[in-house]
Amino acid sequence: MTDPIRVGLVGVGIIAETHLAVLAERDDVALEFTVDSRPVGPVEFRGTTPPHHGGLAQALDAHQPDLLVLATPTETHAELTRLALLHSTARVLVEKPLVHDLASLAGLRELDGKADVQGRVFTAHHFAFSPEVDWAADLLAANPEWGPVTTITSAFYDPYVLRPTEAFASYVSSWTDSGVNQLSMLTRFVDLTGLTSSHQTDGGASAWCTVEFRSRGEVGTARLRSSWLTGSSSKESSLVCGRSGVEVWIDHTAMTGFAARGGELLAAFGTDGRTPRKVAHYRPLYASLLSGSPHPVLGFDTAATITAIHRATPEESPEETPEQR
Ligand SMILES: NC(=O)c1ccc[n+]([C@@H]2O[C@H](COP(=O)([O-])OP(=O)(O)OC[C@H]3O[C@@H](n4cnc5c(N)ncnc54)[C@H](O)[C@@H]3O)[C@@H](O)[C@H]2O)c1
Repeated sequence: MTDPIRVGLVGVGIIAETHLAVLAERDDVALEFTVDSRPVGPVEFRGTTPPHHGGLAQALDAHQPDLLVLATPTETHAELTRLALLHSTARVLVEKPLVHDLASLAGLRELDGKADVQGRVFTAHHFAFSPEVDWAADLLAANPEWGPVTTITSAFYDPYVLRPTEAFASYVSSWTDSGVNQLSMLTRFVDLTGLTSSHQTDGGASAWCTVEFRSRGEVGTARLRSSWLTGSSSKESSLVCGRSGVEVWIDHTAMTGFAARGGELLAAFGTDGRTPRKVAHYRPLYASLLSGSPHPVLGFDTAATITAIHRATPEESPEETPEQR
């Protein structure tokens, strides 16, 4: 028997419930402590209640975790990651997005030399592990004759319009929250090269962005829509291989997919419906993280590439003249 991986969980909010559920399934981990800056009820983990602290610094005075999970509001990620790197030897799994701006990314990079940033910082790009994404990535890889992916359209909707104050406080904006999920999901299919346009509307509750990518040596475009102005969650993406006319349609809410060419169904995917969606993301994410060779989508380099695109500010498209409309 090897010693269990000692985990410290920082931020006991909504997504922490999924982390706790998936961690509790694993025999190789023990929850050493929890942290939250607000008073929270006792956190039960496999019938025990690990010690709870009001701040990460105090927790690190008392514990030597092997893994810190940061599940706090987005704007706190950079500072807490810095604290974790400098005051512990733990690996750090940071909720997505790793940082909320480019200055924070640069700040983390500057710690190189003082701490092993590349070896210790991982980002929970959970959408990249969703079953329908896995299925579609395998399908496209297995069918090179379909040619490059030429166009992607992705629309992510969350009903945060019903609790805007909390949503803006925890997630910043729809582009900050969903854009990073869309980008990390796309890294499973294509090589992202840059943000080509960005329009945020509804006070940050909606976004329309375009991203350039390369697929099998060719350049393509992804159109990314996200919005909180909806009554229910709905997330779908379509990947088109323009040369062959093949379209791969994935529904991230239902965790289903199909590929078609014209009227012909080429392949289809569904699940047995027994695994809740977030568990279906985080179970393989933790399996990869704790495997000894984590998937590159979790690594610092991928997070840095995604952040550079996510936080880029492309020149606004010039206004169209009436004649161009
Ligand atoms: N909710 C989701 O479905 C979801 C899914 C994937 C990723 N995420 C990401 O997870 C992060 C948290 O989201 P959430 O929905 O769980 O938010 P949340 O607001 O429900 O929970 C955040 C928790 O962190 C605590 N906190 C705030 N500052 C802290 C600090 N400095 N130290 C310790 N605790 C602190 C808060 O008190 C709160 O309990 C965000 O970055 C979000 O993008 C959320």
